[in-house]
Amino acid sequence: MTATTAPDIEKIRAKFPVLHQKVNGKPLIYFDNAATNQKPQQVIDALVNYYSGYNANIHRGIHTLAERATKAFETTRRSMQKFVNAASEEEIIFTRGVTESINLVAATYGRAFFNAGDEVIISGLEHHSNIVPWQMICDEKKATLKVIPVFNNGEIDFDAFKKLLSPKTKLVAINHASNSLGTINPVKEIISEAHAFGAVVLIDGAQAAAHLTIDVQELDCDFYCISSHKMYGPTGAGILYGKKEILQTMPPYMGGGEMIKEVTFAKTTYNDLPYKFEAGTPNIADVIALNEAVNFINDLGKDVIAAHEHELLSYFVEKAAGIPGIKWIGTSASKVAVQSFVIEGIHHFDIGQMLDARGVAVRTGHHCTQPLMDRFGIEGTVRASFSIYNTKEEIDSMVDALNRVVNFMKP
Ligand code: ALA
Repeated sequence: MTATTAPDIEKIRAKFPVLHQKVNGKPLIYFDNAATNQKPQQVIDALVNYYSGYNANIHRGIHTLAERATKAFETTRRSMQKFVNAASEEEIIFTRGVTESINLVAATYGRAFFNAGDEVIISGLEHHSNIVPWQMICDEKKATLKVIPVFNNGEIDFDAFKKLLSPKTKLVAINHASNSLGTINPVKEIISEAHAFGAVVLIDGAQAAAHLTIDVQELDCDFYCISSHKMYGPTGAGILYGKKEILQTMPPYMGGGEMIKEVTFAKTTYNDLPYKFEAGTPNIADVIALNEAVNFINDLGKDVIAAHEHELLSYFVEKAAGIPGIKWIGTSASKVAVQSFVIEGIHHFDIGQMLDARGVAVRTGHHCTQPLMDRFGIEGTVRASFSIYNTKEEIDSMVDALNRVVNFMKP
């Protein structure tokens, strides 16, 4: 990064009210960004403005507030279309987040198109939300779930993936970046290999959205899932991107208001895309505020965000390398700014609690990736994940705290 593009981190931090507090008597150091990242004031303001200024249901009323709310809601759809470079707004479906997006595809595409003997491929790096929905639909349709093995450094075995592909493969579901290890998967190559066998590909973009450039047309993925709350937006909102020609073939997910054209007791006709998949009153406020999260990211630039986060990741790995007994879990050269580790002889929960006592928030446990933890023969890790508002000084404090933990726990 050049001096001219280096972001002013103090200026950025000033936009995040939650960061300016003490936790257990110490200044908060928030390194749990892969679980959910913090929200800038403009996102919080958008929520307050909606509820205090134009709270109304959308797509239904013709009164002024309803039109204002509808316009704001649809503005976010256009922003998200640009954010992932989708060809059309009809390809952006609002959901509660990645989990719901994946469940939607499994329950509609899977139920409509999987048959007995078909195969679904996932990777050993997946979050439970990209495992369980496929297990459920495979059970129902008598299809088989296959898993791409993971190397010791946390990368998938691409040759093994190619061997798993066959004319039986109906769908490949894989994350863009691993929540537990940070590994960035070679999704473009995966998509191209899967398409050669006629399989569709779903990408779980939960850990990519705030860090990596997403271009669904360039990737040529069939589905791409994003959670708002992992990209500085509110919880309870997100998108499913799907190729229009595929979404058109899929039956609706939930039935109810908004997803219909006409209802009689004899028959219902369904609405056009994307509304066919948006039954009921959606999460209006949070979708509207998501637009401000997109603005926040675009104003900074993802390359600037990623460069700062990578600098923090390298700094942490370098500074913490000397901590007695520390072992990195996930050492791929291609990662988002997530670092999992264990310390010999100390339970990860104890480490997490002792860090919390010093104001440092990290995630501990299996990170909703139990099969991946099994692969490494561990119950869980401590995971530090960095964001644009974190600093090297905060990392120094965490490394200092980790050294204290090790000294305190020494037999
Ligand atoms: N998926 C989130 C995480 O990795 C919750 O922590």
